[in-house]
Amino acid sequence: MGRSSLYVCQTCGAQTRQFFGRCAACGSWNSLVEQVVTASDTRRRRPVASAGAAAGAAGGALGATDLLQRPRRSESIHTVGERPLQRLGSGYGELDRVLGGGLVPGSLVLVGGDPGIGKSTLLLQSAEAMAARHLVLYVSAEESAQQVKLRWRRLGGAGSQLQLLAETDLELVLQELESLRPAVAIIDSIQALHDGELASAPGSVAQVRECAAALARIAKRQDTALLLVGHVTKEGTLAGPKVLEHLVDAVLTFEGDRFASHRLLRAVKNRFGATHELGVFEMRDRGLVEVTNPSELFLGSDEPSAGTATIVACEGTRALVVELQALVSTTSYASPRRTATGIGTNRLHQILAVLEKHLGLPLSRFDCYLAVAGGLEVEEPAADLGVATAVVASYRDLTLAPGTVLVGELGLGGQLRPVGQLELRLQEAARLGFRRAVVPKGSGLGPMAAGIDLQLLEAGTVAEALVLALGVNPADDRA
Ligand SMILES: Nc1ncnc2c1ncn2[C@@H]1O[C@H](COP(=O)(O)OP(=O)(O)OP(=O)(O)O)[C@@H](O)[C@H]1O
Ligand SMILES: [Mg+2]
Repeated sequence: MGRSSLYVCQTCGAQTRQFFGRCAACGSWNSLVEQVVTASDTRRRRPVASAGAAAGAAGGALGATDLLQRPRRSESIHTVGERPLQRLGSGYGELDRVLGGGLVPGSLVLVGGDPGIGKSTLLLQSAEAMAARHLVLYVSAEESAQQVKLRWRRLGGAGSQLQLLAETDLELVLQELESLRPAVAIIDSIQALHDGELASAPGSVAQVRECAAALARIAKRQDTALLLVGHVTKEGTLAGPKVLEHLVDAVLTFEGDRFASHRLLRAVKNRFGATHELGVFEMRDRGLVEVTNPSELFLGSDEPSAGTATIVACEGTRALVVELQALVSTTSYASPRRTATGIGTNRLHQILAVLEKHLGLPLSRFDCYLAVAGGLEVEEPAADLGVATAVVASYRDLTLAPGTVLVGELGLGGQLRPVGQLELRLQEAARLGFRRAVVPKGSGLGPMAAGIDLQLLEAGTVAEALVLALGVNPADDRA
């Protein structure tokens, strides 16, 4: 079995036998990636999927070599066998929600996140919960078995039948997967695995891709759900999960402020469920705890203060009530400072320009700082009205009437635009005890809104909305 490598340019596809920093064919830098040229049928550990297993493969693509060796005819879509999608509960409602209802057998899920954010903790806790009902293998390629056990003890691990393997050699991991045939296997992390047939270092693009492809083949064949941990790195030397995104069925990212205790889990891609679902956890000393009522996390103090406004943001099918804080103060710079945390700075610039133009507020002479409570990132324009209100409230030193939420997108002409999922947002606000909502005119609430115990104040423009929210006309007293 000859071990020969080929370097393929990822930009133009040119192949060389030698590594160059720059592709001789197209001239792009750092685009050559090592690939093995051993025929996969000579490798004992990369067997070809059987026809039966392939038919049952849960939505994943087979390797190109598999298709080459097993010529198949096309068939009518009506004759293709159907198999109901069974899902394994991960033991955590928040994780299941992001996965679209649970883990699908034979699927590959990549969990990415910054170092130290809690990926191993999340997956070990979930592995422990799943091991009560299924055979679960935890492959630790980064930490020794003793280290994993220490963590398992700290997280309150008890008498489950969790199997542990501390190994970095891909060959041995594949063998263990084949002999154990677990329902779920966790690989922590894919960057630490090493395929001995490749000359490049663990974590390089070629290694990560080869290891993931070999794991994917075996997972599809024996219906093992695979959870892969991937590191997010900025340097080009370590391959980030980007390389794997096309290969896997779902990509989850685990994020959060390292200085705050809550962690957010999102689906970036999901072949078996909706993306942009959000799972919320809190890191405690005994591990990650689910936060089933996250709005409480993103709401500030009960006492309203000048410059705060409450909005309802939507993340997937979940509405979150979030507090915004603005600080507007006289600038001592030639160009005023604008700093936004949790909201895009361009969005803030745009809202400030609308307020300046349509309400005549001289905001270009003021610094403006804006922050979203709890470190949440709010991307949707439905937050615009909340931002505008917080800014004006801080500028005029006004306090919002208690129990008011604001929802609406701001047009460049100062008009308020309707937003999606308004009923969902209002329900969440009402559930948390809010009494009034300022919303865009003509939002067209459906029958669901009938049961929502909330006073709706409709506004056509930002000026009208501010009068409703703050009780005074901010444009009256032009500075
Ligand atoms: N003894 C401990 N007591 C309390 N919390 C701890 C303890 N050890 C670790 N933690 C928490 O767990 C976090 C690390 O979690 P974990 O190891 O799961 O992260 P990770 O994403 O897997 O990191 P890496 O990328 O290094 O593998 C720490 O940042 C800390 O918040
Ligand atoms: Mg880890």
